[in-house]
Amino acid sequence: MTIAVGILGMGYYVPERIMTNYDLEKIVDTSDQWITERTGIKQRHIAAKNEVTSDMALIAAKNALQDAGLSAEDIDLIILATASPDHAFPSTACILQDHLGAKNAAAFDLSAGCSGFVYSLAVSSQIIKSGLYKHILIIGAETLSSIMNWHDRNTCVVFGDGAGAAVIGITEPGYGVLGIDMGADGSGGKYLYQPAGGSRCPASSETVAANGHTIHMNGQEVFKFAIKIMGKTTERALKNANMKSEDIDMLIPHQANLRIITSAAKRLKLPMDKVWVNLDKYANTSAASIPIALCEAQAAGAIKKSDNVLLAGFGAGLTWAAVILKWCK
Ligand code: UT7
Repeated sequence: MTIAVGILGMGYYVPERIMTNYDLEKIVDTSDQWITERTGIKQRHIAAKNEVTSDMALIAAKNALQDAGLSAEDIDLIILATASPDHAFPSTACILQDHLGAKNAAAFDLSAGCSGFVYSLAVSSQIIKSGLYKHILIIGAETLSSIMNWHDRNTCVVFGDGAGAAVIGITEPGYGVLGIDMGADGSGGKYLYQPAGGSRCPASSETVAANGHTIHMNGQEVFKFAIKIMGKTTERALKNANMKSEDIDMLIPHQANLRIITSAAKRLKLPMDKVWVNLDKYANTSAASIPIALCEAQAAGAIKKSDNVLLAGFGAGLTWAAVILKWCK
């Protein structure tokens, strides 16, 4: 009999400080009307001065452990998806392992941009199925405000900070992960990246002056890619699960742009009441966006036991991933 693996508990955290579109109007040449019409975003949460990715991950992880009824020592592995780690190394997952007291856990970071949480879910479910580990803590956590060029209206209006976590483990037969699709197209890496700070362009006063350590994005290219890939990855995950789009009870898409989300829903022929949207409140929190949305949807009673839930995201890499879960809580 195949082992069923699913989400045993979830938690999230967003920083206290809210920055509205009106606040951004005072910083860059933009307007609430432009941001709302082009993206659907109204506000974003921004980390406090000394609040870093591992801090937000820690709160989300504690909430997820509590929801799962497990302790930190029950965790065998931590996978933390982020594009804004505390440091280049050691991994933020290792920092979290220490702060959480998960002394029995191995730990590593996963770099797949905004697809990172869904990649982590796909990978962790297969590690548990293999019998190697029983409980894996996966987290998407981002302090994108720390790598933002606050003079670039092309990026600073679309991103926000936050963290979402899930405990993955064995569940009832027939429940949990039913279908997976993951992919990458590295030729599009140039459309969304942080140019400086790595071995290609080490930090120097010139790289700082040129804003090389901030997010650089060709929004139009990422948009075109997203529209195409959201359709393809969801169709492939449905095929992998031997399901049709009408079997889906709730779509939890990456929260990047309302126009991308509505296009994906249309292609799947899903009414918008079967699509969770919260980017108006949080903007694009990259790897944290899907777990935050999933957590909220469950807390709001929009996902019930036995519902088929489709998670789908895309991001830097370029990467994409979709997972279908039969909800087991
Ligand atoms: O998580 C994955 C990563 N990112 C994404 O998924 C982002 C995908 N891309 C997008 O969501 C959209 O491309 C953006 C929201 C980033 C931009 O929207 P757009 O409709 O593609 O705008 P655009 O770049 O084509 O710019 C249209 C116009 C330009 O002015 P002109 O040349 O027509 O006069 C821009 O200069 O809007 C201008 N513009 C702005 N105006 C006010 C660009 N950004 C802003 C802004 N406020 N913030």
